[in-house]
Amino acid sequence: MTPEEFRQHGYRAIDWIADYLADPGRYPVLPSVKPGELIDALPAAGPERGEPMEAIFADFERLIVPAMTHWNHPAFLAYFANSATAEGILGELLCAALNGNGMLWKTAPAVTELEQVALRWLRQWSGLPEDWFGIIYDTASVGSMHAMAAARQAADPESRTRGATPGLVVYTSEQAHSSIEKGAIAVGIGQNHVRKVPVDAEFRMRPDALEDLIARDLAAGLRPCCVSATVGTTSTTSVDPVPALADIAERHKLWLHVDAAYAGSAALAPEFRWAFAGCGRADSFVTNPHKWLMTPMDCSVFYTRRPEILRQAFSLIPEYLRTADDPRAVNMMDYGVALGRRFRALKLWFVMRSFGREGLADMVRSHVRMAQELARKIDGDPRFERVAPVPFSVVNFRYKGSDEDNHAILDRVNRTGEAFLSGTVLNGRFVLHLAIGNRATTERHVRRVWDLVREAAGWIPGRD
Ligand SMILES: Cc1ncc(COP(=O)(O)O)c(C=O)c1O
Repeated sequence: MTPEEFRQHGYRAIDWIADYLADPGRYPVLPSVKPGELIDALPAAGPERGEPMEAIFADFERLIVPAMTHWNHPAFLAYFANSATAEGILGELLCAALNGNGMLWKTAPAVTELEQVALRWLRQWSGLPEDWFGIIYDTASVGSMHAMAAARQAADPESRTRGATPGLVVYTSEQAHSSIEKGAIAVGIGQNHVRKVPVDAEFRMRPDALEDLIARDLAAGLRPCCVSATVGTTSTTSVDPVPALADIAERHKLWLHVDAAYAGSAALAPEFRWAFAGCGRADSFVTNPHKWLMTPMDCSVFYTRRPEILRQAFSLIPEYLRTADDPRAVNMMDYGVALGRRFRALKLWFVMRSFGREGLADMVRSHVRMAQELARKIDGDPRFERVAPVPFSVVNFRYKGSDEDNHAILDRVNRTGEAFLSGTVLNGRFVLHLAIGNRATTERHVRRVWDLVREAAGWIPGRD
């Protein structure tokens, strides 16, 4: 492609993106494709000769877009909704253009240093300790896996060479994300050595239950090594009592990890800082700008106050990657499994600069306001019940009927193509989960979804 052709196709792609972002709601949020349909629609083998960009772009519009679930849709309200803002997309575009690989400082000084700058700003905006070390990984799952590896390293320094000693134990709540368990699997601690600590009536880890489990494991000759707390659990966004968990972790010399993948972004608004009490005492902390901070996938921030432990776990320098020692030249490959690293900080920096802390905090506030308004409506409708507090922008509720009734409501709403909600199970019952996190979501969208839910409930036989 010549520079002129690139310009022409590039303008076309940007035009397409601008139109898309102006109104993603014109697409059904969930596609109507069947599994395998796209595979069948595309050639079984790649082209021998290059094809014109027009043909590729036409297939993008004709085949790829209709097979997308539109996370940018303002009524995408499932899981944790997110946003690919125009600002972040520009950063992502330039990241691809520069194609920097930040494995060493020398291989991409800007990749390494902008990451340190953006993560310093984010730490300051979030009220986290100034001296923490930050690194961007792709996902929170990978960040938490690195936390497990660091916890293993701290408890069992020979594990790196010898392999993990059997008997290390990780504690997390029944409501924690599955990535904590997967991290323990990946670093050889083992799924059987992940204790799911019971929660209280508001889905928060119970410190007394944690103490009991630790005591039981110590008595059995096992070696507790890590507590993973969650600020903003996946189903209900509950906040574990981090100060009390930090006391326990300190007393037993356990690594304290905090998974704030979703709710971490709320720390930018001072009125939500209560949720982060005690987090400054953590050994590691993960938050995902790609969830609630307007940054396109993927961008997950990992902080640790003990980077030397991570380095002990992972630094391995082959001769061809050896560089002169300079304390300011950080080699990010020393702090994780990956060698190659994308310039993810660029899109985060674009987002942080263009919105500013106040702009991002306002967006979080507006999402929380909309969620609380919906919670009030649910509380006022005798056919429905809310099943968890709403500290942030997620509402869990159910129709006062059977699990099948609630599944039927969910299916009916999602089949309209107008909205996408998800479900979860709380206290053994299936509930509807509505998460606000997209920049384009307004009160109108939330009102419409509530109407759709009530209409769907009207179809439940024998109830209305
Ligand atoms: C609390 C929590 N932690 C971790 C994750 C995993 O995030 P990622 O997809 O970045 O691995 C999620 C995903 O929703 C989550 O809710």
